[in-house]
Parts: sequence; C-alpha cells; structure tokens
Amino acid sequence: MQIIKTIEEFQDWRNGVESGLQIGFTPTMGALHEGHLAHIRSLRLDVDVVVASVYVNPSQFAPGEDFEKYPRDLEGDGAKLRDAGCDILFYPTDLQMYPSGYSTYVSVEGITSRYEGSFRPSHFRGVATIVCKLLNIVRPHVVTFGEKDAQQVAVIQRMVADLNMSAKIRLIPTLREVDGLAMSSRNVYLSESERREALTINRALNRAKELIAEGEDVAFVEAEMRAAISPEFRLDYFDIIDPATFDSPADQNAPLMAVFAGYIGTTRLIDNVRLR
Ligand code: PAF
Repeated sequence: MQIIKTIEEFQDWRNGVESGLQIGFTPTMGALHEGHLAHIRSLRLDVDVVVASVYVNPSQFAPGEDFEKYPRDLEGDGAKLRDAGCDILFYPTDLQMYPSGYSTYVSVEGITSRYEGSFRPSHFRGVATIVCKLLNIVRPHVVTFGEKDAQQVAVIQRMVADLNMSAKIRLIPTLREVDGLAMSSRNVYLSESERREALTINRALNRAKELIAEGEDVAFVEAEMRAAISPEFRLDYFDIIDPATFDSPADQNAPLMAVFAGYIGTTRLIDNVRLR
C-alpha cells in the first residue's frame, strides 16, 4: 500500500491511472475498526484500485466538540487498511486541505437543518465541503459511506445529485459488536458501565422494528422505544422519520427509520435502524 500525503502527489498518481480501471474510495477520519474495513473489503471485491483517505476534518467539528481528542493512529490505521486490501492511502494535512485564504464551503439546504443539523449546526457544511473536495481530488467511480451515519448519507446523496457528481455511492451496512453496540470510533471513550448502558440503544431499535412489523402505529412505537433506553442517556432525539428527507413520515406507506442520538457521560452516540 502506498501512502500519499499531498494533493499534488495524489493528482499526479491519479492522472497516471490507466483509463478503464475502476477506482473505489472510502473516506474516513481514521481510528479504524471493522466497520470501516468492511468498506475496503466491499470495494476490493469489484474495483481495480482501492483508495482510502484518513483525515480528521476540522470544519465538521464545532468548538467544544471532540476534534482535539478524536483518536488518531496512523500506524495502526495504515496496517489495518493494508491488510484489508487497500492500495492507496491519502493522508493530507490541514494545511493541504485548508490552506491560508481558504474560503469555499458547500452548503446543502433543507435536510441539514434537522436532527444532527439542529444539534450540530455547522457539521454538515463541513462534511459536504470535505467530501466534495475529496471526490474532486480522488475522482473515484465508486465511493462508500456507512449506513450508521444515515443523515450524512442523505446529505451526500443530495449533494452528489445536485452538483452532478459522477461517483456512484455504495452504502455499507452498520457493523455491530457481538453484544449489538454499533461500531464507532467514539466507543473507545466509553467506561465499562457506560458501555453496558449503551446496549439499550440496539435493544430499543430492535423493539421498534418488531412493533412496526406487528403493525403498531408510529406514535406508539416511538413511545415504546424511548422507554427502552437507559435513563442514564441524555437524549438529543429518538424519533421515527422518513430516511430520504429526515422529516416525519408523509403517509402510511412511507419508508421508516428510527434515528437515535444521545449522550452517555460525555460521549455522544448515534445509531439507527430501517423499520420499513
Ligand atoms: O463519516 C466520516 O467519517 C466523515 O464524516 C467523513 C465522511 C470521512 C468526512 O470527514
């Protein structure tokens, strides 16, 4: 696996890729776990060149969030990516991505004002900007995103469609630990007892899924799933929405997703499940 640290060097490499070869790309912020490696393994099956980026993007963190303490481990990440079959690791610096005088940001409207967007107002502007920049630099045929970040997926799908970007988006299902906790780079912050309480998220999501399958209505299911969450959580939201818009489901047949975000101690966790 080759590690490329500058945009110029990456673009030189990219310009030299034989036309006709399919490039697959997984953008990450590092601190990689099996959930990320599932993206690399999925691409390895059917593209010619697998590229990953590791970049902790400052513009998607608000002041007071965990940008400084976000786990960073280039050596460990590099070894994991290589073993999973990655060919090229793009590892730019802040100065490369946001040089002095940088002033262009991508703002996706509508969906970004709800849920994560209302609790983290500048977050999706930072995500859309960095993903747009990375797609311009890497120019992949296929790019992967994790279903765990369901609203991020909806925002990026909107941006890719609106800006006529040609990369195909491949969604990778959420990987869970054996006890059901969704894999996340932030799980390392959890104490033993917080981790135990965090298992109530997956239990509540599964309960919601069962109840919807039994034909219960959305308001009843929301009440039941919220009641199943540990009281140790400080909830930001735990609602049932339409995953395409992150609005309330428009009618009886709309697709449904339960979306969760809350703090246990100082750690903010998110999770979701498709219900219909
Ligand atoms: O999902 C993430 O890890 C990040 O939001 C992403 C897409 C790599 C952009 O920084």
